[in-house]
Amino acid sequence: MANFEAIFNDSYARVLSMDGDSDLFFSKFYEKFMSTSPEVRDKFKNTDMKRQKKMLKLALYQMLSFFMHKKSADYMQGIAESHAKKDKDIAPHLYELWLDSLVDTVKELDPKFDPDVGLAWKSVMSMGITYMKDRYDRDKAAPSS
Ligand code: HEM
Repeated sequence: MANFEAIFNDSYARVLSMDGDSDLFFSKFYEKFMSTSPEVRDKFKNTDMKRQKKMLKLALYQMLSFFMHKKSADYMQGIAESHAKKDKDIAPHLYELWLDSLVDTVKELDPKFDPDVGLAWKSVMSMGITYMKDRYDRDKAAPSS
């Protein structure tokens, strides 16, 4: 059986190591993501993208940790709240565009990409995405663990 954590980790290391000090992976990801819909572009119209790319790099490790430990740490709760209706108002349907853009970027940059690598990325991200979508219109007072 495929070990999704290991496959994801190796693939993530490959796509990050390709860009040295720059942020090729995240630049390509946001380029693709923004091109999926005007709604997405509009959300980032005032965003400092350099900072945003750094935040996403950290977030992907947190998504892996959430997938591995099956516990929503304060970090996950924090980003879920910031994306919820009351704050940035990131509608649930946008997560599919986010994930497709992410996997497309991996496909483009990972020389060892194959269907298992794609499935590993989707699986690792799925828990965090489900969590964030679920929190979209929940109250902040909901318990975290
Ligand atoms: C599971 C998927 C996602 C992850 C892990 C993620 C992660 C993050 C992180 C770490 C930040 C910065 C910290 C924060 O503001 O909470 C952020 C900000 C943001 N995200 Fe996401 N995000 C995801 C999905 C989305 C989607 C689908 C959209 C739709 C457009 C989106 C739009 C934004 C916006 C607009 C900001 C604020 C940018 C600013 O500061 O101007 N995110 N995201």
